Amino acid sequence: MNTSTIDRDIFGSVRMGYAVIESNKLKDWKTFLQQGLGLHFNADEKSINEISFRMDKHSKRLIIQKGSAEDFVALGWQVEDQETLNIILKRLTEREITVEKSSLAEAEQRGVKEFWRILGPKKQNIELYVEAKLTDEPLNMLTSSFVTDKAGMGHVAITSRKPLKMQRFWQEIFNARISDYIEQVISGVTLDITFLRLNERHHSVAIATTREIPLDPIRTKVQHMNLQGASLDDLSSAFQRCKQLGYEMAHEIGQHPNDKELSFYVISPSGFEIELGWAPLVVNETTWKPTTYFAISSWGHKPENPTKLYMFSTNLSNFKQGISTAIHPEYSPI
Ligand SMILES: [Fe+2]
Repeated sequence: MNTSTIDRDIFGSVRMGYAVIESNKLKDWKTFLQQGLGLHFNADEKSINEISFRMDKHSKRLIIQKGSAEDFVALGWQVEDQETLNIILKRLTEREITVEKSSLAEAEQRGVKEFWRILGPKKQNIELYVEAKLTDEPLNMLTSSFVTDKAGMGHVAITSRKPLKMQRFWQEIFNARISDYIEQVISGVTLDITFLRLNERHHSVAIATTREIPLDPIRTKVQHMNLQGASLDDLSSAFQRCKQLGYEMAHEIGQHPNDKELSFYVISPSGFEIELGWAPLVVNETTWKPTTYFAISSWGHKPENPTKLYMFSTNLSNFKQGISTAIHPEYSPI
């Protein structure tokens, strides 16, 4: 591979493909995702140690495996073709980032042909694959459909004490572009969020950091994961179902000023938040200019339980965790 190929701009060729979550609450996760958010449950799977869900033709999008982490243990990113994947792998090895190929069993568990794993920023398992296993089996969902396709299955927001390093990782390896920034002062602390896009989706990764003191009070590797429903009715129905099932809203329905997405944030059985959204704008690359906004929400997104300290997140009040991060450095591969 020559240098010009390695330098090729691969923007638009990578999208979020699946997530593996580890939890001891499989039954609750099944209720939450199937009856609450309205995903398709893969009922034919026989394992007692994992459950999986579809939202489109991909045989698996969310996989919940039994274990005590109550956290994301892997994020899968789908790459357009083998040539692009080779460019990414070359960039990783050039930076001496170890790349490990999946076993057959691991690939099977994720519903992909094979994948390559690296330890990303904040020790996040990043898994890269080209080919997902698809199925024509009809979907049995309470949501009309989810928006995936070229934009991928949504986005993740990650808290970091090394936001510029994390940003550089996504820019150097995946040619991520900056969509915009939000800064908001909450209880005297400035929260800075940078929104990165890998494709037409306004952001696939949002990186949040506290400006004055570099603390990371979020226990989990991902602060929230966003999924995109296809209609306003999908959003409002899922909101009502989740409430009826007793799941607490970290933030009720509201709208973000930057991507204009309408969404709510519900607390998952593992304690982190899942955002279900509708109608985020699609970036026009020829006219887009990064902007800074000064509020996370233009309206709504009120906490259901205002007596709890909800700021950017339910977990942001976890100061014990925040203080422990001050003495443990955050891992960064570059
Ligand atoms: Fe979000």
